[in-house]
Amino acid sequence: MIADIGIDLGTRSILIYGRRKILLNEPSVVALDVYNNEVICLGREAEEMRGKTPDRIKIIRPLSGGVISDYTMTSLMVNYFIRKVCYSYIIKPRVAICVPSGITNVELRAAINAAYAAEARKVFLIDEPVAAAIGAGVDFSKAKGVLMLDIGGGTTDVALLSMDGIISKSSVKIAGDSFDEAIAKYIQKKYNLIIGEVTAEKIKLEIGTLSGFDTPRTMTVKGRSASNGLPAKIEVSWQEISAVLTDVAEQIMEVFSTALESAPPELVGDLKESGVVMTGGGVLLHGFDRFVHEHIGIAAKIAPRPIECVAIGTGKSLDMVGELKAGFKEVLPPDSGNV
Ligand SMILES: Nc1ncnc2c1ncn2[C@@H]1O[C@H](COP(=O)(O)OP(=O)(O)OP(=O)(O)O)[C@@H](O)[C@H]1O
Ligand SMILES: [Mg+2]
Repeated sequence: MIADIGIDLGTRSILIYGRRKILLNEPSVVALDVYNNEVICLGREAEEMRGKTPDRIKIIRPLSGGVISDYTMTSLMVNYFIRKVCYSYIIKPRVAICVPSGITNVELRAAINAAYAAEARKVFLIDEPVAAAIGAGVDFSKAKGVLMLDIGGGTTDVALLSMDGIISKSSVKIAGDSFDEAIAKYIQKKYNLIIGEVTAEKIKLEIGTLSGFDTPRTMTVKGRSASNGLPAKIEVSWQEISAVLTDVAEQIMEVFSTALESAPPELVGDLKESGVVMTGGGVLLHGFDRFVHEHIGIAAKIAPRPIECVAIGTGKSLDMVGELKAGFKEVLPPDSGNV
C-alpha cells in the first residue's frame, strides 16, 4: 500500500488526501472541558455540539484566524486525524502538510511534531498556493506567470507562480469567515438582532451574492433581540446583504496589489492570458469570479473541486519531491533541531 498522505490544515477544516482520494474531511475543532482541560471529542463530533454545550465545554478552533494558535490542541488534532486514516498502514507514511501562511515557527513545530508523533516516516511542508496549483492541475513549470487566489475561512492567499516556484505572494486575514462576521454585525446594528455564526453563514450561503440575482430573494432570520433578550425574527433581502459582502470582498482585493507590485512586469503581463485560478471555500460565494475580474482586470476562474484542491495538491506534491523549487521542503524530526 502506498503510504503517502497530504494534509490541508485549514482554519475551518482538515482534509487528508491519500491513495488518490480524499480520505478525511472534518471540521478543525476540538470540544474541551475547561474545568479539567480534558478533550471530549474532535472534528465532526465536536462541531455538532456547537452552540448546544453547557458552559464548561468549549468548542475550540485551534487554527482560527489562519494561524495555529494553540500548540497542544493542534498537536492533538493532527495526531488524531493522521492516526484515523493511517491506522491500517504497515509502512509508516510520508506526510506532506500544508500550513496557513503567516504561521510562526513555534506553531509550525506543533504540526510537524504531531505528524512525527503519529508515526510519519518523513514530513514535508508545502505552501498553500503551490498546493492549490498542483491540486487544480495548473502547470506552473514554464517561464510563464500563473496567479493563484485561495480564499479559505480565515486567510486569503495570493501567489504568482512560475518555473515550479513562487515569484511573489501575499496574504491577508480577511476571508470566508469575515463575510459571516460582517453579516452578524450588520443584522445587529440595523435590526437590533443578535445572531450566531452558524446563522450568519447560512445567510451568506442562501442569499449571499457579489453580482446580484435576477429574481427577488429574501430570508427569514431568527435570533435574540438585543434589547430584551427574547427570541425575534426578521426578513432580509439579498440586496442589503450584498452591500455588506461587497465591502468585505473589496478589502480582500487589496491582497492583489502587494503580490503584483513586487512581481516582474513580464510575468504580470502573462496573466492577461492565463487568468487567476480561484480555490478555497470562500470563492464559492455567488459572483466572486466576476467580482475579481472586474476589480483586477484579469479573468478569474474557479478551479474544479475548489475546497479539496489544496489537500489534493498537498498529497500529490509527494510525487514531485526534487521537482518543486520553492514552497516545498522536507523537515526533520523534533530532536534534529531543524524547522
Ligand atoms: N457555497 C459557499 N458559498 C460561500 N462561501 C462558502 C461556500 N462553501 C464554503 N464557504 C466558505 O468557505 C470558507 C471555508 O473555506 P475552506 O474550507 O477552504 O477553509 P480552510 O481551508 O479551512 O481555511 P484557511 O485556508 O483559511 O485556513 C468558510 O468561510 C465557508 O463559509
Ligand atoms: Mg485552506
